[in-house]
Amino acid sequence: MRILVTGGAGYIGSVVTEELVSGGHETVVYDSLCKGHRGALVRGAKLVVGDLMNGALLGRTLEENRIEAVIHMAADSLVGESVEAPQKYYSNNVVAGLSLLDAMMEPGVRRLVFSSTAATYGEPEKQPIEESDTNNPTNPYGETKLAIEHALRWYDNAYKLRYASLRYFNAAGATERCGEVHDPETHLIPIVLQAAAGRRERVEIYGDDYPTHDGTCVRDYIHVVDLARAHILALGILDERSAIYNLGCGGRGYSVREVIETARAVTGREIPTHIGPRRAGDPAVLIASSEKIRRELGWQPTMQVLRVIIESAWRWMQSHPNGYEERQRESQK
Ligand code: UFG
Repeated sequence: MRILVTGGAGYIGSVVTEELVSGGHETVVYDSLCKGHRGALVRGAKLVVGDLMNGALLGRTLEENRIEAVIHMAADSLVGESVEAPQKYYSNNVVAGLSLLDAMMEPGVRRLVFSSTAATYGEPEKQPIEESDTNNPTNPYGETKLAIEHALRWYDNAYKLRYASLRYFNAAGATERCGEVHDPETHLIPIVLQAAAGRRERVEIYGDDYPTHDGTCVRDYIHVVDLARAHILALGILDERSAIYNLGCGGRGYSVREVIETARAVTGREIPTHIGPRRAGDPAVLIASSEKIRRELGWQPTMQVLRVIIESAWRWMQSHPNGYEERQRESQK
């Protein structure tokens, strides 16, 4: 298939692009490079540097490349930042998302895989979380992703735009080529590994008084390759129907302390910690029921074990001590 990946130079987007290219799909990455990295661009994919608000460029890109489906991953995705700066989230996630849908109308592109989030559920009523559970986002990030999901329901109804909305839980890990680089970094696993590498003094544990087995928050970590593969499977339903799927491994999840312990075992380093206050908006436990995607798409995670996920992230960090900087310099020569 000929596929456009918005945000394809980002962390998850680059791994999705890797999977698409290796699966023989003609892939065009559309990325503003505001947060994405030129060095993350996968060989074999074409890059168009552009903003989602540039409807003319989007339209041209869709038409000239005869795009058949869009995987929309470009967005802002930090819960804390969204509470501080809702305008940025409404603008970059909702307004820009609608601009993409507008651009898809004219050339008749009617297939979309959308990166959504577990943050649409807010403080969950029960664990594991099922897709039919109530959506009640507690921050603008989840709210803006849900706004696009709602728009998609009506675009499907009126224009037959078929979509698969994938509600990610906690993506982590790396491939040989693509890994996680954010500035600033806020995600637990890269922060823990930075501390292991001596690049930060210690890890602050955001609260140890949660109602969990060791008092720290429990999350459902999913390897970024397993996550990426779900996108390819999701493309397969879009001739027939639309759907919403949770994307986590399910199971028991892992606490912040367990992540740190596992990282100590993987790296053989000390990793100093410090107990800090709770971070605003963090639910105690977020675990997906991944039954629906397993049953309907035959999705099967291959790297559920936390140790395997952390090992891959550690390998990548060691082979890319400066993130994508070197590769970026190479490609600019
Ligand atoms: N944490 C710490 N110290 C840190 C960083 C994180 O204790 O320095 C804790 C957090 O409080 C949380 C857990 O580690 O309990 C995981 O935090 P992350 O920031 O890695 O991930 P989140 O669970 O907050 O968020 C992720 C995605 C969001 C998505 C959410 C949905 O980043 O985009 O999962 O589950 F909305």
